[in-house]
Amino acid sequence: MSESFDLIVIGAGPGGYVCAIRAAQLGMKVACVEKRETLGGTCLNIGCIPSKALLQSSENYDEAVHHFADHGIGVGQVSLDLARMQARKAEVVSANVKGVEFLFKKNKVTWLKGEAKFLAGNRIAVAGQEYEAKNIVIASGSESIPLRGVEVDEKRVVTSTGGLELDKVPGHLVVIGGGYIGLELGSVWRRLSAEVTVVEFLDRLVPGMDAEVGKTFERVLGKQGIKFRLKTKVTGATVADNGVTLTVEPAAGGAAEELRCDVVLLAIGRRAFTGGLNLDAAGVALDERGRVVVDNHFATNVPGVYAIGDVITGPMLAHKAEEEGVAVAEILAGQAGHVNYGAIPGVVYTWPEVAAVGETEEQLKASGRAYKVGKFPFTANGRARAMGSTDGFVKILSDKDTDRVLGAHIIGPDAGTMIAELVLAIEFGASAEDIARTSHAHPSLNEAVKEAALAVDGRPLHI
Ligand code: FAD
Ligand code: NAI
Repeated sequence: MSESFDLIVIGAGPGGYVCAIRAAQLGMKVACVEKRETLGGTCLNIGCIPSKALLQSSENYDEAVHHFADHGIGVGQVSLDLARMQARKAEVVSANVKGVEFLFKKNKVTWLKGEAKFLAGNRIAVAGQEYEAKNIVIASGSESIPLRGVEVDEKRVVTSTGGLELDKVPGHLVVIGGGYIGLELGSVWRRLSAEVTVVEFLDRLVPGMDAEVGKTFERVLGKQGIKFRLKTKVTGATVADNGVTLTVEPAAGGAAEELRCDVVLLAIGRRAFTGGLNLDAAGVALDERGRVVVDNHFATNVPGVYAIGDVITGPMLAHKAEEEGVAVAEILAGQAGHVNYGAIPGVVYTWPEVAAVGETEEQLKASGRAYKVGKFPFTANGRARAMGSTDGFVKILSDKDTDRVLGAHIIGPDAGTMIAELVLAIEFGASAEDIARTSHAHPSLNEAVKEAALAVDGRPLHI
């Protein structure tokens, strides 16, 4: 006889594991299926966490090599032990994935180890055993998008997975795609002294981002030595023992040329992953891009089957997946689970960081909404000067009539932490004036947020 659960979650990434924990808190008997050896999904194993570990280590190295002297600190010849850096990254990942295992035990979530295959809408098989559930949540995540003519071997031509594992700093790294992964991992290897060239199809970096921020971002990363080939496409890669030769062409067409490098990082986006789930057995519908189709309550076309996270529409971000995990668990418990998609921040963890929430200026213009802008540069912020990190600015967009905050964009030191205040402002329906009248500790980077809010009304104090 097959064992039965109130809820089976397929996939233990940030969407799936959070959903499982929340459902268990709400009294359900829950199992979570994960085929990987460890819990935590893409994010903890090969995504957010290892990339941030390497970003931190490489930032420390870069500081020691280039900036300690500014502070009067001499450290002699700085050396790089990449093997130790990689081992530290593995330790950080291990602590995080074990943390999820602990949380599963604490909340009595059963981990079904293996690949889940649908047998019917409410039944799955895992490692030769059958299980049934009142409800099933698909949280199977995403995978990197391949590019015709560029075959990934995870050694010379790598996705982010191989790009996080290099055992030698490449002499020249070419990154295909100027998005989140390309700029974060490009920064890691640039700081460790690789020559880095980013080839981007469009005329700008991180295309969904506010254009003014995008321009500043390109300039600041350029100062760090990253080279950009915008409006350019890669049409082929030839791998040899001593490196890779890429064929690149102007995006609009024109003469092809060759670009030689040691390693290629392919980072042109990710796509929903449903391989191996045998969704046909349940009859779950996918859209034209292979994403599971859901309604506003995360329900698929099959009663009792739901989906969340990277496998459905929306930004492919861990915290978006987590919010959906909590919401669907609460909906299944009869509560009013809900996700405010207008208040999901996006952060690129380069240095300076780039963070955004809500609408961009381009989106507001396109929708014809009248808005006000307030901006404040970090060059005028005392704390940023003390840190020696004055590149960038805070920009707040608010409704012209009501002053309600519609969007906020930061490029600057710790932008990813600072954006939280503005996410909360949007969540609470705050006005720029509310932020301007809130006391901000001195000297803090957040004072730039207050000043940008004052600038919305044309009355910044420190510029
Ligand atoms: P995933 O985390 O992909 O988890 C899905 C899990 O399902 C996987 O473990 C997979 O093995 C399992 N699975 C799939 N099919 C089956 C099956 N049939 N049976 C059993 N198990 C199955 N986002 C951020 O917000 N911040 C960041 O800093 C960030 N950095 C990133 C860096 C990199 C290099 C990458 C690649 C991504 C990064 N992301 C980041 C994105 C983030 O990782 C994803 O948005 C997030 O992991 C999505 O969560 P998920 O639960 O939907 O899916
Ligand atoms: P991305 O969507 O962020 O960027 C892909 C870039 O590649 C775009 O700028 C696009 O215009 C470009 N591109 C597409 N096709 C191309 C081609 N043929 N040639 C050249 N350029 C091309 O995707 P990326 O960087 O692969 O990351 C995937 C997703 O993972 C992100 O969108 C994000 O959701 C998530 N992620 C989030 C992070 C964070 O939150 N800090 C960090 C890393 C990943």
